[in-house]
Amino acid sequence: MTASTETVPAGTATGGEPVLRAQGVTLRFGGLTSLDQVSLELRRGEILAVIGPNGAGKTSLFNCLTGVYLPQQGSIDFQAEPGGSWLSLRGRKPHLVNRAGVSRTFQNIRLFNALTVLENVQIAAETRVSSGPVGVMLGLPQNNKAARSARHHSREMLEFVGLRGKESLIASGLSYGDQRRLEIARALASDPQVLLLDEPAAGTNPSEKLGLAQLIQRVNTELGISILLIEHDMRLVMSVANRITVLNFGKVIASGSPAEVQQNPAVIEAYLGSGAAEELAAAEGDAGDAGDPVIAAVPEQVVRDVVPEPAAADEAADADQAVDAEAADVADASDADEEGSK
Ligand SMILES: Nc1ncnc2c1ncn2[C@@H]1O[C@H](COP(=O)(O)OP(=O)(O)OP(=O)(O)O)[C@@H](O)[C@H]1O
Ligand SMILES: [Mg+2]
Repeated sequence: MTASTETVPAGTATGGEPVLRAQGVTLRFGGLTSLDQVSLELRRGEILAVIGPNGAGKTSLFNCLTGVYLPQQGSIDFQAEPGGSWLSLRGRKPHLVNRAGVSRTFQNIRLFNALTVLENVQIAAETRVSSGPVGVMLGLPQNNKAARSARHHSREMLEFVGLRGKESLIASGLSYGDQRRLEIARALASDPQVLLLDEPAAGTNPSEKLGLAQLIQRVNTELGISILLIEHDMRLVMSVANRITVLNFGKVIASGSPAEVQQNPAVIEAYLGSGAAEELAAAEGDAGDAGDPVIAAVPEQVVRDVVPEPAAADEAADADQAVDAEAADVADASDADEEGSK
């Protein structure tokens, strides 16, 4: 079974109770509305993909969910345990969101390049230790046992993602696909309930993509972690997602099963331009291949050609977003709003 032919994964939960909920989230930067009344619900045990063209607001949404941005409106709530109390994540600092049980990876790989593979994961695992990584570095006795356990846990996570035997390599020496795996191991080190993956397969080759698709499914089924997945590779999305939410210009334009979403005219037009839905329907009729997934059937290269690559300014903005989530203060988007309106 390959990522291109597999459809909805068998045996995974699709009808669970919500674990993470965003309601009416609006985020503005000056005159630009990055997210406009966005609501979505991640159900416990599922993989929910968030797709949409470049600049649609996907990373902005992740940044709101993880405390990097403070949206001007809306609520973000997380329920760590089934039936437990709901915790508001809105305005919570990134490291506290992480501690609550929501972990993430970043669109642009952000590893400590000069550190070893093991050290990269250990730093995240040690944030669970009572006095944190500094206490561990100082060798405080009460932390020695915890540090050993963090190291053990880090090794387990590295083995889980397929990096066993590479623990002592310097992170920057890893292949691109392995660096993506390392990011996932690091995100797993804090034992999250929810994992947010921002383009985990970006820049990887087809076989690395397939391996990452399988890893994402294993994180979901074997570790029982609910996953919110941003990804441009439609084959990967269609192969792992239980449900899909589509953003365009900061708004949710569709939500449903992969089959429903990929036949949705608004989604096809968002990706391929106005009139594309009719053209594809006609072409499909001519070719007699009705039933083929429409968006999945469009080669990734075509999608990339039609959807412009992000402008340099967007890349710069993304680099800004990529401040260390562990250390970053909440960026109050209302400040940006005020500055923009001056
Ligand atoms: N810090 C920021 N300052 C100003 N504008 C921002 C900032 N962050 C995001 N934006 C803008 O918000 C919009 C949504 O950007 P975002 O990065 O969320 O899109 P995306 O869907 O993740 O796109 P891509 O697929 O290219 O990663 C874009 O117009 C972007 O320029
Ligand atoms: Mg993005």
